[in-house]
Amino acid sequence: MTEMVRVGALRGIVMRGPGLPETLPFYEDMWGLSLAHKEEGVAYLRGTGPEPCLYGLKEGEVFGIEYIHFAMDSRADMDALYEQVSGMGETVLGAPAEFDDWIGGYGFEMLDPDMRRLRFRCEARELDDREEWAMPRKVSHVVLNTPDLEGREAWWERVLGFRASDYSADQMVFLRCNSNHHSIALVRAHYPSVNHVAFEVPTINEFMRAIGRMKQKGHVPSWGPGRHGPGDNPFAYFVSPSGFVIEFTTELQQIDETTHEAQVWPRDVPEKMDQWMTAGPPTPAQRAVMQGRPDAGWPELAQQATVGKAFQ
Ligand SMILES: [Fe+2]
Repeated sequence: MTEMVRVGALRGIVMRGPGLPETLPFYEDMWGLSLAHKEEGVAYLRGTGPEPCLYGLKEGEVFGIEYIHFAMDSRADMDALYEQVSGMGETVLGAPAEFDDWIGGYGFEMLDPDMRRLRFRCEARELDDREEWAMPRKVSHVVLNTPDLEGREAWWERVLGFRASDYSADQMVFLRCNSNHHSIALVRAHYPSVNHVAFEVPTINEFMRAIGRMKQKGHVPSWGPGRHGPGDNPFAYFVSPSGFVIEFTTELQQIDETTHEAQVWPRDVPEKMDQWMTAGPPTPAQRAVMQGRPDAGWPELAQQATVGKAFQ
């Protein structure tokens, strides 16, 4: 049996919802991203690294995820991943092909069992590195709410080669595709939705300064700053103008595949969840906003006749 193909890395995410492109100034003036490209109905935001789109703002009727964006190292890996997932009978939205959007490159798309669109791309446009202090460099992780935690964990592992790095009680699993402790995490919930998206700033000093920049502009964290147990990463959560939860993070744990063993972190030992004991547990309001708004995903959009625009 040949070894299974693993997803290479998380590139970013494109969000959609009513009025999302109009929230661009928040990300430019406060969050620390910059506009990389804009076209009809969608704005692509970059960080200081080479990735052309960390966060996309797309106009749409339903608040949710337009697509989650992953990288593969090469066309050979891309084709092998496609063979793997289509061979398992998963829902793919066409064979690997050249993308004709601004980011370019080669790849394909598929749906996860919660009908979320996943886009895999290699040979994407690369931007010049920017030397700017206290700005997000990349997307660290995307956390998804799901009504079937165990089933979805098994799916990400079996189909895309993710591995469980840790668990938070019986409520959450942290999944890695490379040395980062988690690129995707899943949370037990009543319906599929986005829990939050985390942006990595390079150092703890810059992490604090980024929080300070937000505070000076009138935005205090809705939760944090604190330091998580699983992943060992500092966190500060904010609520975006469209009601999505976004996070600054840094220093995410790096996993050594030869020695790491997943553990179940307890939730009833405060210092295990909040190492600095600065954040406290999430408030009911924070939990509510992290539950997100129900997003039926791609088929609903297909009914709105946007399928022909899938590769835009
Ligand atoms: Fe997070």
